[in-house]
Amino acid sequence: MDIKILENHEELSEFTAKYLIEFIKNKPDATLVLTSGDTPKLAYRKMVELGKDVDFSRVTIIGLDEWVGIPPESEGSCRYIVEENLLKPLNINPENYTFFDCLAENLNPECWRIDNLIFEKGGLDLILVGIGLNGHIGLNEPGASFENYCHISDLEEITVSVGQKYFTESTPLTQGITIGLKHLLEAKIAILMASGSKKAEIIEKTVKSVVSESLPCTVFQKHTNALIFIDKDAASNL
Ligand code: PGA
Repeated sequence: MDIKILENHEELSEFTAKYLIEFIKNKPDATLVLTSGDTPKLAYRKMVELGKDVDFSRVTIIGLDEWVGIPPESEGSCRYIVEENLLKPLNINPENYTFFDCLAENLNPECWRIDNLIFEKGGLDLILVGIGLNGHIGLNEPGASFENYCHISDLEEITVSVGQKYFTESTPLTQGITIGLKHLLEAKIAILMASGSKKAEIIEKTVKSVVSESLPCTVFQKHTNALIFIDKDAASNL
């Protein structure tokens, strides 16, 4: 596990944006999973500044997760956050990206669609994730198997209550559809991004706790090429 500690959220965002842009320049046909959440938004906006002359025509971008039943145009959906902050401003062709359709009547075929896309592409080159206060990665909640590919999860109460921050009005959230931790383990590079003192305790556990499915973030200790990009506040317990 390689830990990179940046001064603050601004520098963390700058560093992550540069890393991702360089990655795509070096591998223009990369297959990447990108996360939603508040943490990466500034990095995405910085990627827009840095990526104006970059060729995205062969890249494949997959959204990490969605809240089941929340429409794509909702400001709290993964699609909305990644599209508005990154994909649309960079004029990336919608053929180059996809997100879970979490309104699908049957969600299992949705999981298989994304699984198959990842397998067809020969696996993920890179996955970028954030971290929840309960240690969730994507919507892999505590107890999620490290052996799972895409799947549906039941949300913990803390995920439902913290998740309200993405919405302008109170929104019932019960389940998620998410890239599973086996895809993360099989990705060539896995990046965890975290910022702020509220993440300090869970970052400490990510790095120091015994690896366990009850703490999904500890999966990073098992990954052979794991990168932890954090700011000083998130690193304050290390
Ligand atoms: P955040 O969410 O970036 O909004 O803190 C992270 C997460 O829950 O994965």
